[in-house]
Amino acid sequence: MAILVTGGAGYIGSHACLELLRAGRDVVVVDNLCNSNEESLRRVRTLAGRDLTFYRADLRDAAALEQIFSSHQIDSVMHFAGLKAVGESVEQPLLYWDNNVVGTVRLLEAMVRHGVKILVFSSSCTVYGDPASVPIREDFPTSAVNPYGMTKLTIERMLADLYRADPSWHIALLRYFNPVGADPSGQIGEDPNGVPSNLVPYITQVAVGKLEALNVLGSDYPTRDGTGVRDYIHVTDLAEGHLAALDKLSRHPGLVVCNLGTGTGYSVLEILHAFERVVGRTIPHRLRPRRPGDVAEAWADPARARAELGWSAKRGLDEMCADAWRWQTQNPGGYAGARA
Ligand code: NAD
Ligand code: WQD
Repeated sequence: MAILVTGGAGYIGSHACLELLRAGRDVVVVDNLCNSNEESLRRVRTLAGRDLTFYRADLRDAAALEQIFSSHQIDSVMHFAGLKAVGESVEQPLLYWDNNVVGTVRLLEAMVRHGVKILVFSSSCTVYGDPASVPIREDFPTSAVNPYGMTKLTIERMLADLYRADPSWHIALLRYFNPVGADPSGQIGEDPNGVPSNLVPYITQVAVGKLEALNVLGSDYPTRDGTGVRDYIHVTDLAEGHLAALDKLSRHPGLVVCNLGTGTGYSVLEILHAFERVVGRTIPHRLRPRRPGDVAEAWADPARARAELGWSAKRGLDEMCADAWRWQTQNPGGYAGARA
């Protein structure tokens, strides 16, 4: 039996594929490479010392999905495929609804046709909108403050409806906080297109000399140093959380909703200084106004994941920064800069 990993060539999906192969699973990946490079999967195969099957296809292509489900004995799905840029989702909402929501509908239809009822879904802390307090628990009210967040919330509701209609499904909704870092080999990591909008790839690109200075987006928040506080989680911890969820799900049907975070918040300046320690020099920064839509602080209460999945994050801030930095220095041009 094989597991289908949608979006497996992407940042989080490639790390999950590596952990799945290491755990002895047979892996089939479907990805249209709209935000990734097949080189990530070549490296995953090398790191794991095992093969996986790759299909370059779009989730909205029902015929392609039918062919994949017909060609393999698939027993479960990890669903990472989706567009994730908040700003782009505001500019192109229909693209996000079509890609994320319609793509998921097509995937679920194929699963239903083939009797596959085990699903781990990539949700996001964005479903908490502007939380009333921290740490954030899973029973907090949900809301969406942009079209990207609305697609995640919509998919969560769709999966809850599906489970209500047929309680023999096994579904995990994993709400990630801020994934950062890379596999310690430095071979796979986050490879954003153009100028990064997320903090950590921006810092590493400043540190490597591709960008001039970090813009600290807001220094007047009601936090310990005035800058935004987030729950940064190592991508390998996240990948391990998926394997724990799969293990738990496979045993009993149900719908589980879990935060995947560390439970610790760090400010923008704390992250910057942690990178300065790893890099061994000062990284230039300038204080700028707040970014519209940002909240002052967001970090997880990770208790439910510990209780229900038997999982908790193990890697600390220094490890996240060291691994992100190793990936950046070994791959200054990302996957596209790699030799063929
Ligand atoms: P990513 O862009 O690196 O990976 C997503 C992958 O999905 C890419 O390889 C892309 O080519 C593929 N894809 C997108 N649309 C597709 C489609 N229609 N058909 C086939 N393939 C498609 O992003 P990531 O950071 O690895 O995120 C993975 C998932 O986790 C996404 O669903 C994202 O919304 C969610 N998430 C990410 C973060 C984060 O900060 N990185 C946080 C919370 C949740
Ligand atoms: C982190 C902190 C910024 C860039 C995003 C999505 C969220 C989820 C995770 C997918 C904030 C500050 C940032 C910069 C800065 N993704 N910052 N200078 O906004 O917490 O979450 O990724 O589901 O939905 O919104 O992450 O890395 O962009 O920002 O000062 O150049 O860094 O203000 O405080 P965010 P981020």
